[in-house]
Amino acid sequence: MSKVTAKVFEILYQNLFKPAAFVMDAEFIHDTITRFGEVLENFDFVLSPIFSYKNTKLKKKNLGITFENPIGLAAGFDYDGHLAQVLKHVGFGFNTIGTVTNLPYKGNEKPRLVRLPESKSILVNKGFKSEGANLIAKRLDKKKLKGHTIGISVGSSNVAQIDTINKAIDDYLSTFNVFKNKPYVKYFELNISCPNANMSESFSDKKNFEKLVKAITKLKIKQPIFVKMPNEISFQKSDELVSIAMKKGIYGFIFSNLVKKRDNSTFNKKEIKSVKSFKGNFSGRPCFENSNKLIKHTRAKFGNDIVIVGCGGIFSPQDAMEKLKNGADLVQLITGMIYNGPQLIGQICEKIAAFWVINSIEIWVKISIVAFPNFTQTTFWYLEMIWYNINEVIFMKGAILNGRC
Ligand SMILES: Cc1cc2nc3c(=O)[nH]c(=O)nc-3n(C[C@H](O)[C@H](O)[C@H](O)COP(=O)(O)O)c2cc1C
Repeated sequence: MSKVTAKVFEILYQNLFKPAAFVMDAEFIHDTITRFGEVLENFDFVLSPIFSYKNTKLKKKNLGITFENPIGLAAGFDYDGHLAQVLKHVGFGFNTIGTVTNLPYKGNEKPRLVRLPESKSILVNKGFKSEGANLIAKRLDKKKLKGHTIGISVGSSNVAQIDTINKAIDDYLSTFNVFKNKPYVKYFELNISCPNANMSESFSDKKNFEKLVKAITKLKIKQPIFVKMPNEISFQKSDELVSIAMKKGIYGFIFSNLVKKRDNSTFNKKEIKSVKSFKGNFSGRPCFENSNKLIKHTRAKFGNDIVIVGCGGIFSPQDAMEKLKNGADLVQLITGMIYNGPQLIGQICEKIAAFWVINSIEIWVKISIVAFPNFTQTTFWYLEMIWYNINEVIFMKGAILNGRC
């Protein structure tokens, strides 16, 4: 991906595609893009040069998984796995499928997706719409996923018969069992924080959470698990969940899921009022601050024993950088891509690579100043003198040409 290609695509997206798409129903557009995207899955030779920013400096290894770059697609965009193969070509370093549930569910009452452009948010009320684990696994089995970093987000089926914690746990386990031996599944996400589901009890409650992770541990899953954390959770409650997970050998955490509260200060007042009668929760900008606070707190509290994925409200390379600076190892997004276009992934990767180069030079300079103070200072003095003389020559040349000398 070149800067020019990305800019051209961004202009086309903002001025042609988005104005046309945003007057149509959000779910219709999503389904159309999904169908079109799946058709393009074997056209990596066309898509990669347009979208992907490749740089070996971006490669990361966390919890034994290799990530081509630290930008992932969050759960909720490709919930039935249609786009599993194509997303790498659009530039993602990893992509999550789901949330997948054991039993199929056709989704909550419409509207399930409503755009709030002034608030940079989307109201989501899918309630774990899913074709079910077996059908999704069959679809993925047919795709060419070697070399892709794919994860499955697992949730409990949002159907009337799953009405107790024990039944829900069995239901989670069934989905893990469908996918745990699939070679293309590199990680799992444990979704304990879907605010759209029907069951009254929640797995964000520490007792239920402990019961769930205990049961999952018994499955002896080889792939690492990332817990998808709620957004509006206190530090204390979040710490309790992290500690329980760590005791059971789970070291990955995603901060975080959707926002539930409608008094979030980032909402445009008129817009939030206009969806008063709709059920659902919110992505995008309203998720940003809490996600960042939780990342920063959790990194400070638990150090480097855990892997943190920052998620919520990334619309620019600067937003992604903020999550990384707060302590995230990787980041995920959805809403930023919908509002700003798919070239955003490559643009973020490019900026991160540039930042890491500057950062590593800075670190080396700091180390060398401490280790060899005299040598470093002398070297810098010489470099400064050379730079000064080059400037002098340029200035003199300019002055002579302009007839000032
Ligand atoms: C349309 C949509 C559907 C979503 N569905 C799920 C889901 O099924 N499971 C899940 O864990 N998170 C889901 N999420 C939440 C996202 O994964 C993410 O945590 C949240 O949107 C914040 O990221 P963003 O601001 O980059 O969108 C969904 C988000 C959106 C926008």
